[in-house]
Formats: sequence, C-alpha cells, structure tokens
Amino acid sequence: MAISKIGVLGAGTMGAGIAQVSVEAGFTVVLVDVVPAVVEKAAKGLDKAWAKAVDKGKKTAEDVAGFGKLLSTGTDTALLADCDIIIEAIIENIDIKKKVHAQLSEICKPETILATNTSALSITEIAAATSRPDKVVGMHFFNPVPVMKLVEVIPGAETTQDVVDATVDMSKKIGKEPVVAKEVPGFIVNRILVPYINEAGMVFQEGTASAAEIDKAMKLGAGMPMGPLALADLVGIDIVLAICDYFWKEFGDSKYRASLAFRQKVRAGHLGMKTGKGFYDYK
Ligand code: CAA
Repeated sequence: MAISKIGVLGAGTMGAGIAQVSVEAGFTVVLVDVVPAVVEKAAKGLDKAWAKAVDKGKKTAEDVAGFGKLLSTGTDTALLADCDIIIEAIIENIDIKKKVHAQLSEICKPETILATNTSALSITEIAAATSRPDKVVGMHFFNPVPVMKLVEVIPGAETTQDVVDATVDMSKKIGKEPVVAKEVPGFIVNRILVPYINEAGMVFQEGTASAAEIDKAMKLGAGMPMGPLALADLVGIDIVLAICDYFWKEFGDSKYRASLAFRQKVRAGHLGMKTGKGFYDYK
C-alpha cells in the first residue's frame, strides 16, 4: 500500500497542521474544507508558518517554493478522489463523521485508506458507516501538530494489518512517532490527559486558586510544559467537555463527570484560543 498522495479533509487547526507536516515531508497534499473562509485562513496560516521558518533559518525560500508546488487546496471533496489516504479532521461529532466517511468511501478509489483524526470516538462505528470498514483507521494527532511528535494509530474491529502498517509507516515518514492503541474511548493519551484537565476545572470551580495560579502550580510543581487550564484553552474547552461527556456515557462512571466551569464557559461561547477567550484572554 504505497502512499504518495495525502488528502486532508477539514482545514481547522488540526487539518492545517497535518497538511503542513505532510507537505514538509515531501508528500503531495490536497487540503479540503467545505467552508471557503476556513481554507483561506489555513492557507494564510501555512504561508505565515513557513515565512517564520525561513526567518528562523529552519527552512529556505527554495524549500517553501517546493511546498507550494506540493500543496493544493479547495472546497470540493471530489478533489480527494485519487488520494492514497484521506485524513479527516472535521468536527468531533460521530454522526457527521459517519456521514462524511460514507460519502468519501463512495467517491474515492477502492484502495484509498480513510483515516479519522478523532480524540476519543469509535473507529468501528465510523467504519461501519462506509463500504470499506477494512480500510478505515484512527489517526490521532496532537495540538500543535508541527510540534507534538505522537500519532496514535487505532485499528477498528475490521481494519486490516496492511492498513495499520501503511498508516504507521506514513506517520513515521511525516516525522511522527506512532503508537498503536486499542479502540477504547480516549485511547491512551486522552484517557489520562482529559481527566487531569477536567480535575483542574474542578479545582478552579471550587475556588482553590485562580487559573493562573493553578497553571503555575502544575508547571513548577509537576514539570508540565504548560498548565492544565492553558492547555484546555489550546485544545478547545468545547472539545475537552465533549470528551468528558463521551467518557461518562461510554464508561457509565461518574468519575468522568465534567467540570461545571467548562460547561459554563462553553455556554458562554468562551472556548479558548480559537474564540479569543477561555480561562485567559487572547484578544
Ligand atoms: N504551532 C506551531 N508551532 C508552535 C506552536 C503552534 N501552535 N506553538 C509553539 N510552537 C513552536 C514554536 O514556534 C517553537 O519552535 P522553535 O523551537 O522552532 O522556535 C516551539 O514550538 C516552542 O515554542 P515556544 O518556545 O513558544 O513555547 P514553549 O516552549 O512553551 O512550547 C508548547 C509551547 C509546544 C505548546 C508546549 O507548551 C507544550 O508542549 N505544551 C503541551 C501541549 C500538549 O499537551 N498538547 C496535546 C494536547 S491534547 C491533544 O491535542 C489531543 C486531543 O485530542 C485533545
């Protein structure tokens, strides 16, 4: 299963990051989002990231010119039809993901691998909505994608070993360290990380300390690269909340109940960096 052309569906933070590292590794990449403004924002963001890399001396102008030739963008999912793998990085909603993967499995060539960048959802359930459940796999990237080395690779119930091997191989080629994980809610990282972030939300709502003090404590006392509430802002408070609610539903264990501080911020539309406000102000 040779992979030379990568499709990325969803040009938000994660999709743009996946497209960036794939192009930098020399793959031909098609980045698609159905919302034109999202594609434009992603393209501008990539230009900015590469200009910064040239300024820092990490890339040359020739490198960047080469990236431009490898990357194409658009709003029509039909552009993905001849890709060897499509990495879907759209909204974290199982019904929408199922619908989109069902459509992709109709328009793509028969051998195309369909990868879903999900932080917790069932690969098997998404795969079952397609006409090729043996070629559907989870590929979980971490934010910021250009910096974080890990990719969790998650086979669904029917994913073949060939598909897992090709996904692991491709992950290595784009500079990532893949770890294969079984399909359980949250896989490895989010199963551990999200309850930790959620507990910080509980500590905040109980008034133990301010957001800045909680984050400072975890950075200086536990060696975390950033505090848990700043991390919630980076990931998206809505995403953290959705994962907590999903864990509670799937495990039926009240230890996964979400912090009310998160729920209130989501209700207020304060989702973190992407909306300019969360536990901190980014405007
Ligand atoms: N995009 C691209 N590059 C970025 C970046 C971004 N958003 N943020 C920082 N960087 C780069 C910087 O340009 C810098 O690169 P150079 O070394 O080439 O100059 C490097 O990262 C270090 O950045 P800074 O010096 O500005 O800041 P830092 O040392 O504090 O690192 C950080 C920033 C990498 C974000 C670090 O704080 C960190 O590792 N935080 C934890 C992030 C984390 O846990 N992510 C996983 C979230 S969970 C998830 O994503 C999964 C999910 O499903 C919810």
